[in-house]
Amino acid sequence: MKKKIVILPGDGIGKEVTACGKKVLEQVAECFGHQFSFDYATIGHEAIEATGTPLPDASLEKMKNCDAVLFGAVGHPKYDNDPSAKVRPEQGLLKMRKELGLYANLRPIKLFDELLGASSIKPEILKGADILFFRELTGDVYFGERGRKDEGKTAYDTMIYSRYEVERIAHKAFKAALTRGKKVTSVDKANVLESSRLWREVVQDVARQYPDVEVEHMFVDAAAMKLIQNPRGFDVVVTGNLFGDILTDEASQIAGSMGMLASASIGDTVGLYEPIHGSAHDITGKGIANPLASILSAALLLDISFGLKEESETVIKAVEKTLREGYRTRDIADATTAHEKILGTEVMGNVVCNNARMLVNCQVAV
Ligand code: IPM
Ligand code: MG
Repeated sequence: MKKKIVILPGDGIGKEVTACGKKVLEQVAECFGHQFSFDYATIGHEAIEATGTPLPDASLEKMKNCDAVLFGAVGHPKYDNDPSAKVRPEQGLLKMRKELGLYANLRPIKLFDELLGASSIKPEILKGADILFFRELTGDVYFGERGRKDEGKTAYDTMIYSRYEVERIAHKAFKAALTRGKKVTSVDKANVLESSRLWREVVQDVARQYPDVEVEHMFVDAAAMKLIQNPRGFDVVVTGNLFGDILTDEASQIAGSMGMLASASIGDTVGLYEPIHGSAHDITGKGIANPLASILSAALLLDISFGLKEESETVIKAVEKTLREGYRTRDIADATTAHEKILGTEVMGNVVCNNARMLVNCQVAV
């Protein structure tokens, strides 16, 4: 198979982790006889510094003309405490989602058994949890009208959804549920918000077309509580952009660490794959970031964009094997981890690559 992949490292640890994700893709291509070609594009703070805009047209063009995108992260501490900044790295990410029509963000929350001890939640509550989030990604308060009035003393952001936006993500969630636990939990705040009442109405309509799937509606505050109280009670969760942003960070604790969570953003055209963690400037350049979320994002890319199930499974199994062998990056190590088993970003990535090669009897690189 011949495919063109754009690597979009972005800011902070984005560069370090996408380098590992790319390496894994290269190994897979070599072992399975595919031809993947790679190109790079800029986004975020780095792009602002170079061109004055967080998403240059040239980057967008490259993405529109490739088969899949592997993305790192955007963000820079310089903007976090400067509410007056008009140009921000995150705008690049939002523009990219909108322009590429990436309306469905899939965030699988699955705990590797080896990491039961890494979470702050009790292992007996976590064991067996397996949740697939569908976060709507191109609507809601993220894209509604916003501004200031009263000479800047009042600010507003509009939470807004249209029927078709809810319909298309609901269909994706119900279809996925049919291949899993056959249950969809739709999360909203319909007891207060009009946009949530429309959300619920549409999900109820869509649900009628999937009689084999059990549907449950939950308010976002209750969902936040139940995720921690009984994560095994969830199968597929579908929710809006803002609620999904918050709940998936919370749910990352079910997977042990933010450093483990991959995500796929899909729509009608090219798919984009990224860790859910951010640019993490506090550890940038230290070589200690966990590359597994980027590597697992590469696995999602192989599966969803290229339909390469065996290749994708190989990557996941290689990650499992690496963890079983006791290797950890710092964020997922605990008191029982031997010092020599705590690896930096690049070495961790190399161990996964070698394990992937071993699993398919491909000659192991030195
Ligand atoms: C995410 C991030 C982004 C979001 C930020 C960086 C704009 O938190 O992808 O979850 O809020 O969507
Ligand atoms: Mg987020």
